[in-house]
Amino acid sequence: MSRTSVEKMDTSIFPDGFLWGAATAAHQVEGGNWNNDWWAWEHDPASPCVEPSGDACDHYHRYREDIELLAELGFNAYRFSLEWSRIEPEAGEFSGAALDHYARMIAACREAGLEPLVTLHHFTTPRWVAACGGWRNAETAKLFGRYAERVMGRIGDQVEFVCSINEPNVVSTRGYLGGLFPPGEHDPTLRAAANETFLDAHRRAVEIVRVAGAKVGLTLAMSEWVTMEGGEEMVAVLRGPYEDAFLEAARDDDFIGVQTYTRTRVGPSGPLGPEEGVETTLMGYEFWPEALEVTIRRAWEETGHVPVLVTENGVACADDARRIEYVRRALRGVRRALEDGIEVLGYTYWSALDNFEWAFGYGPTFGLIGVDRIDQRRTVKPSAHWLGELARHNGATERT
Ligand code: NOJ
Repeated sequence: MSRTSVEKMDTSIFPDGFLWGAATAAHQVEGGNWNNDWWAWEHDPASPCVEPSGDACDHYHRYREDIELLAELGFNAYRFSLEWSRIEPEAGEFSGAALDHYARMIAACREAGLEPLVTLHHFTTPRWVAACGGWRNAETAKLFGRYAERVMGRIGDQVEFVCSINEPNVVSTRGYLGGLFPPGEHDPTLRAAANETFLDAHRRAVEIVRVAGAKVGLTLAMSEWVTMEGGEEMVAVLRGPYEDAFLEAARDDDFIGVQTYTRTRVGPSGPLGPEEGVETTLMGYEFWPEALEVTIRRAWEETGHVPVLVTENGVACADDARRIEYVRRALRGVRRALEDGIEVLGYTYWSALDNFEWAFGYGPTFGLIGVDRIDQRRTVKPSAHWLGELARHNGATERT
């Protein structure tokens, strides 16, 4: 950092130990995850997927370099997920080698000075679980509990933060109601069943993780809901099973993972889409970083003051300067929340790497680090340097 920027330093409101991280998820970066429901979905010509995940970012083999790069950039945390289909490739058959792999990743984080933030389930479900009905089947919660127990038995003493399930609300809504995720259903009763199974699975994970001595929370996709004229009832209808049920379930957790990207304007017949004239991202979302502050405040209030960990926030854009602008404005919101006494434990940018954005394939680039699709070469973007510097100085390199 140059002398001038040091002189611009301001006293940071970010508490000591604030987690500054970047995030990934196994299926989006590891490559070759052929044994889960997503791989099958990507290869189903009837699915809406634009391309298969293939080698992804080959992070299964390149995790050490990626972790070291994040540490060099200035971050102090790395959020990643464990792939259930590798750890339990068939019912009740556990792979010690896969568990060892994730233990090595955790060790690599520690060696590099990064706090590992580990997620047990990030969208993908082993094929054999999907074949038994997946999340519509209440029994899946027990299977997940058995898996979680095995995982925590291996890594429980090496981690402090465990996210049980990533965005269960997205998996149930897109998989069982919207048809965008596997199993591609469009049935509100199945969505309700999946929600129940997820809630049960989360409760089981909470007990298991706590016995192992780590902190546990779920991560939730949240939006800034904007009620347009006549949209009051519709907001309640949409938000109830999507956000509220999970916030309610998180009331006794150690933290709540907030994941926010944009706002949702709702009229009497549903979401209205982007407002004319508002910049949109490569996901088609409104460029709306201010949504993060709103959702942090909501998560804090609705859970009865469970500490908030921003487990995801970010933007898919081709112009990296827009990423810096987005994060700068989002962090202003985090700062205001902290100033008001809300306990925010950390900010984890999505994503560390340009990666496989599910049904949308490799088009939407969220990464702080670019990945060449042919030779896997990593390119550090200016936003990675910018956010890494901020992290190194606990948010005090400039007035965010
Ligand atoms: C939420 C999901 O957890 C993650 O997998 C996804 O890539 C990002 N949001 C961006 O859409």
